[in-house]
Amino acid sequence: MNQQLARHWGLDPEVTFLNHGSFGAAPRVVLEAQRREQDAQERDPIHFLAPERSLYGKLDAVRDRLAAFLGCPSEDLAFVRNATDGVNAVLRSFPLEPGDRIVITSHGYNACNNAARYVAERAGAEVAVADIPFPLSDPAEAAAAVAEACCDRTRLVLVDHVTSPTGLVLPVEEIVQAARDRGIRTLVDAAHGPGMLPMDLGRVGADYTTGNLHKWLCGPKVSGFLHVRPELQESVRPCVISHAANTPAPGRSRFIAEFDWTGTFDPSPLLAVPAAIDFLEGVLPGGLDAVRAHNRALVLEGRAILCEALGVQPPAPDAMIGSLVTLPLPASGSDAPPSGRVDPLQLALFERHRVEVPIMHWPAKGQRWVRISAQVYNDRGDYERLAAGLVAEGEACRT
Ligand SMILES: Cc1ncc(COP(=O)(O)O)c(C=O)c1O
Repeated sequence: MNQQLARHWGLDPEVTFLNHGSFGAAPRVVLEAQRREQDAQERDPIHFLAPERSLYGKLDAVRDRLAAFLGCPSEDLAFVRNATDGVNAVLRSFPLEPGDRIVITSHGYNACNNAARYVAERAGAEVAVADIPFPLSDPAEAAAAVAEACCDRTRLVLVDHVTSPTGLVLPVEEIVQAARDRGIRTLVDAAHGPGMLPMDLGRVGADYTTGNLHKWLCGPKVSGFLHVRPELQESVRPCVISHAANTPAPGRSRFIAEFDWTGTFDPSPLLAVPAAIDFLEGVLPGGLDAVRAHNRALVLEGRAILCEALGVQPPAPDAMIGSLVTLPLPASGSDAPPSGRVDPLQLALFERHRVEVPIMHWPAKGQRWVRISAQVYNDRGDYERLAAGLVAEGEACRT
């Protein structure tokens, strides 16, 4: 680990942490900011949480900061707990008719693909899976796969900005434009977007975009956003219906008011998001652009180290890399874990080599991948340690 930068986090110094991608990791100053909000909340829970006395003003200040960061008007931005929540809100509000089609992708996040299947089944609609190849050599292959899965009954495309199992930055702008040209709406799951990639929601132009602030933006868990184009906001409702369904909040659209209050919750993660943006802007000379460039260069360096150790080729072009890289491992044969269990190799790497890294089974059990992350607290030595661990566990020579 890069000790100079890792001191900003409370990560276990004994463990090489190569899994920022799963749940992020919040720096100390961000957690301190969150703690201050929690202390203020517990000093006077009524004044703090009563929306019109204090909470709305606090959320609006965060919304303005985040909207500027994401490239959209504040009025179009709601808060959600996480990307799964945002995807569910859109899907469960979507006006599906029997026979309609939703397109998802073969690299999509399982929880969100499940939500698409759930609403489709409820409506008598169908789900088509765009089969994005992997390995692949050009982002256009992903856009072509999505286009191919669409038909004249397709109403919605759900696509990840950065894919979870494969860590690919997908060409969302092209996918959104192509869908719009065919009259199809788009829901972009940007769970990994903020902090990893420059975000410009206005330019991408998706109908709906959701994302996490607790992954690459380093906000506290649990913090997410949902952006909806103005003309569709009336129809998008949160997963939990609460007061604002029949009680207008002065000066707020129903869209904003409904998402701002879905029952008692802890707003401190959201209220600490500006501290996370400030942290990332200040942690390296050059601000967030420098953080993104640093992480991308580092993960590509890590990829080279691991490709050599494993004797494999990079499965995706550099143009599709942000700060995640997924590489193939030899097929595991009989030692695939039962569904929901951690792969034995992941446990061995953690227990014997003190490396925390996800081993994924995708798209089928037994087909294994290792996914590395790069955040500013990592350094080259972390990937060398992982490579040595994989070699020691026999992964580099097994076929
Ligand atoms: C593409 C994608 N979507 C959604 C999620 C879910 O994030 P959360 O559990 O915070 O909702 C993830 C998590 O890794 C993801 O990679």
